[in-house]
Amino acid sequence: QQPPLIDPFARAITYLRVSVTDRCDFRCVYCMAENMTFLPKKELLTLEELDRMCSAFVGLGVRKLRITGGEPLVRRGIMTFFNAMGRHLESGALDELTLTTNGSQLEKFAHDLYAAGVRRVNVSLDTLDAEKFARVTRWGKLDQVMRGIHAAQAAGLRVKINTVALKGFNEAELFDIVDWCAGRDMDLTFIEVMPMGDLGNEDRVGQYWSVRDVRSRLEERFTTVDLAERSGGPARYVRLEETGQKVGFITPLSHNFCESCNRVRLTCTGELYMCLGQEDMADLRAPLRASPDDDAPLVAAIRAAIERKPKGHDFDYSRQRADGQVSRHMSHTGG
Ligand code: GTP
Ligand code: 5AD
Ligand code: SF4
Repeated sequence: QQPPLIDPFARAITYLRVSVTDRCDFRCVYCMAENMTFLPKKELLTLEELDRMCSAFVGLGVRKLRITGGEPLVRRGIMTFFNAMGRHLESGALDELTLTTNGSQLEKFAHDLYAAGVRRVNVSLDTLDAEKFARVTRWGKLDQVMRGIHAAQAAGLRVKINTVALKGFNEAELFDIVDWCAGRDMDLTFIEVMPMGDLGNEDRVGQYWSVRDVRSRLEERFTTVDLAERSGGPARYVRLEETGQKVGFITPLSHNFCESCNRVRLTCTGELYMCLGQEDMADLRAPLRASPDDDAPLVAAIRAAIERKPKGHDFDYSRQRADGQVSRHMSHTGG
């Protein structure tokens, strides 16, 4: 057994988020430009390399894997990778294997994901209106996602909905979304829009709707009780007394979560980002490819990277358009 990954601020790194593709079948306005250029295939880690990479992290004490993208389920052959990671659940090395998805392919994959050992999925859904859904995703079909969510629940997967709070877009739907989730026994998290990727024509600051305001709005109708629990993630949770429902809020701008940060992010090209809001990264693909039969150089590179994990992020909306812009795409680092 190898010594665990501990960063310079004494935080144990037990959670790896892995982007398996930068591609997506949608183009959400806050995430991607309409005419995205995606990475050439040779830049991507192969499924075998992803397996080797993630298995190395599991060997170093990572207990939770979240598969993201882009849209993870559009990666060809992705179930091979999920099944490979399922081995680590069976051996007890991994506590949880999960994914964040836009839901478009869930109808097809829900059953296989459950069979691989996945028990929960996070599905992004910003509106319940088909026309608005097509607008925010640029062409997505809401009924396809609805069928996916249904299939996930039918397969035994617990579903959490992620809703990005967008002023003037889903403000008026707040209660409908809450009721819709409550009626289907789904958890719900509201996310503040983050300054990432190209701004293009979308004025993301104009779309900004703070989750504090979302919460105040909820309190016009519901009694909220703060929950102490912190799922090991950045969300803060409340319970709505009237429905018993759990609702989370993610404020990327607050630093409340950094001090207990337990995670790092691997991109689909094998770069390791030590913090969502910092540019510093380590190339793990080079040591992986240079040494196909021996993981020692890879493990050394991982340890060296963790030594550089910063204390916290430095998002700042006021500097967004000037030098504060984090130019990476969410679809590259996996959110
Ligand atoms: P868990 O990490 O399993 O609790 O799930 P999650 O809800 O964080 O994961 P999900 O992939 O659904 O992400 C929801 C939102 O949380 C996304 O917008 C992420 O970018 C954001 N998020 C994820 N990790 C971090 C983080 O380390 N810091 C901050 N500030 N936001 C994060
Ligand atoms: N700001 C906030 N959330 C975002 N997501 C994608 N891009 C952004 C952004 N710029 C969300 C997706 C998904 C989660 C992983 O990240 O909607 O739910
Ligand atoms: Fe695709 Fe998710 Fe980005 Fe939307 S937010 S374009 S669904 S990766």
